[in-house]
Amino acid sequence: MDLQEQLEELRTSTQAQLQAIKAENAKELQDLRVKVLGKKGSLTELLKGLKDLPNELRPVVGKQVNEVRDVLTKAFEEQGRILEQAQIQAQLESESLDVTLPGRQISIGNRHVLSQTSQEIEDIFLGMGYQVVDGLEVEQDYYNFERMNLPKDHPARDMQDTFYISEDILLRTHTSPVQARTLDKHDFSKGPLKMISPGRVFRRDTDDATHSHQFHQIEGLVVGKNISMGDLKGTLELISKKMFGEDRSIRLRPSYFPFTEPSVEVDVSCFKCGGEGCNVCKKTGWIEILGAGMVHPRVLEMAGVDAEEYSGFAFGLGQERIAMLRYGINDIRGFYQGDSRFTEQFK
Ligand code: DAH
Repeated sequence: MDLQEQLEELRTSTQAQLQAIKAENAKELQDLRVKVLGKKGSLTELLKGLKDLPNELRPVVGKQVNEVRDVLTKAFEEQGRILEQAQIQAQLESESLDVTLPGRQISIGNRHVLSQTSQEIEDIFLGMGYQVVDGLEVEQDYYNFERMNLPKDHPARDMQDTFYISEDILLRTHTSPVQARTLDKHDFSKGPLKMISPGRVFRRDTDDATHSHQFHQIEGLVVGKNISMGDLKGTLELISKKMFGEDRSIRLRPSYFPFTEPSVEVDVSCFKCGGEGCNVCKKTGWIEILGAGMVHPRVLEMAGVDAEEYSGFAFGLGQERIAMLRYGINDIRGFYQGDSRFTEQFK
């Protein structure tokens, strides 16, 4: 075979090999290119034969070499494009979207029912010009008991046994110590003190359906000039209606708390039977919702507030109790277990 025939043979065989490369083996294209057109490729090899040709043939065959190189270079480019297209096509087909598939649900959480309850109550009091104050969960015996008129060895301390960190530091048993702390800070020359304080409290209790060693309260305190029991009643009536419905009325029963005098237990008329008597109100027509009273003069005096000039009322409600009544929840433990089947009911 002379050089011209070999060139022609190289062209046709390379083109045939090129055509045979499949999309999934696109790498072979590059290998073949090196083998044919590379520095040490077949074409270069044939070129070496030029020098042995007679002078008159050299330019003719030289031209033919260049033509073959051009033709093959183009053929490689063209085949490269075809393979690339084929690859893209194959990928598109394998990744095709099924727009009829149902979408993936993103589950959106919701506020815990206790947070909802306290937020609702906060909003009502903010609207009446109260401030919302944060207290301390780890509290001093001094604020939790002494300043609430429960000196050491006071029998009423027994109902509020708790977890002690040391002799004088404990987990607070109620939100009432926030009363003393805010009284200490308040500047009465600027007007009356009106505050609520929601938060977590602790008791040494055995957990069951209605007791938990930790639960939540909201404390309320108003101190100013000429604050009376009527103000207390009006305020509690308003909050009861907002929580349990506009038709509700309340009644105050005498009670005892060391930090209030007089002290009352507050009942709301039953929102289920309207007062007839049913299983929710235990046939009495009334449901106890919170404790309250007029701030004991000693509590004011311990804060350096003149009890002759100033008076006030206070109340403390249990957030769990309010939520359990409103939503008919019968086991307090549901609030704390973090089971989404419980929490999602209050979306
Ligand atoms: N601190 C009381 C308790 O945990 C609740 C309470 C009753 C708070 C009467 C008050 C109040 O501010 O006036 O049992």
